[in-house]
Amino acid sequence: MSAGDTITFGPLYLADAEECAALERLLFPGDDPWSPAAFRAAVRAGHHYLAARDGARPVGYAGLALVGGPPEPEAEVHTIGVHPDVQRRGVGRRLLGGLLEQADEWGATVFLEVRTDNEPAQALYRETGFEVVGVRRGYYRPSGADAFTMRRARRVGSAR
Ligand SMILES: CC(C)(COP(=O)(O)OP(=O)(O)OC[C@H]1O[C@@H](n2cnc3c(N)ncnc32)[C@H](O)[C@@H]1OP(=O)(O)O)[C@@H](O)C(=O)NCCC(=O)NCCS
Repeated sequence: MSAGDTITFGPLYLADAEECAALERLLFPGDDPWSPAAFRAAVRAGHHYLAARDGARPVGYAGLALVGGPPEPEAEVHTIGVHPDVQRRGVGRRLLGGLLEQADEWGATVFLEVRTDNEPAQALYRETGFEVVGVRRGYYRPSGADAFTMRRARRVGSAR
């Protein structure tokens, strides 16, 4: 099954905050999962947040913020998560693709952090043009896990 079969994609709304926080607790139990208030703050701030839905229910989410520039815009992937029941069906790829379309409209270089032991996410990031540019020791709390910083170069000619 591909993501297009039953899952739809669109903006994330304030009303999704509780469901997203529940997903975070499922996906990031040892790493200070985001609260509903954190999701609401990100949406209110106008960051680029997307949802994947099964019916009305969010089964995936992803968020991107513009954090610097011009003249050299930089964006950061805040978060991306997909419910275990629908993982490996292309949902994460579609969500990340939506973030990167926005980054390309901004003409932004994109950064993110990912646990050094998170092979699935790293594989997804590599296939979309990210490369490891650094290591941050003990980045995640409270687990103390290390992070790679990954970077995707701005797409030449994509700035408006
Ligand atoms: C990372 C995550 C968002 C991927 O979502 P997904 O919907 O399962 O990913 P997709 O089905 O779109 O997979 C896209 C590609 O990513 C890679 N990938 C995804 N899951 C993988 C796995 N378990 N093992 C190896 N590679 C994997 C593959 O390259 C895959 O392409 P393929 O299926 O054609 O081989 C999901 O695993 C998740 O929510 N993980 C927990 C939260 C998390 O770690 N978020 C990232 C924090 S930095």
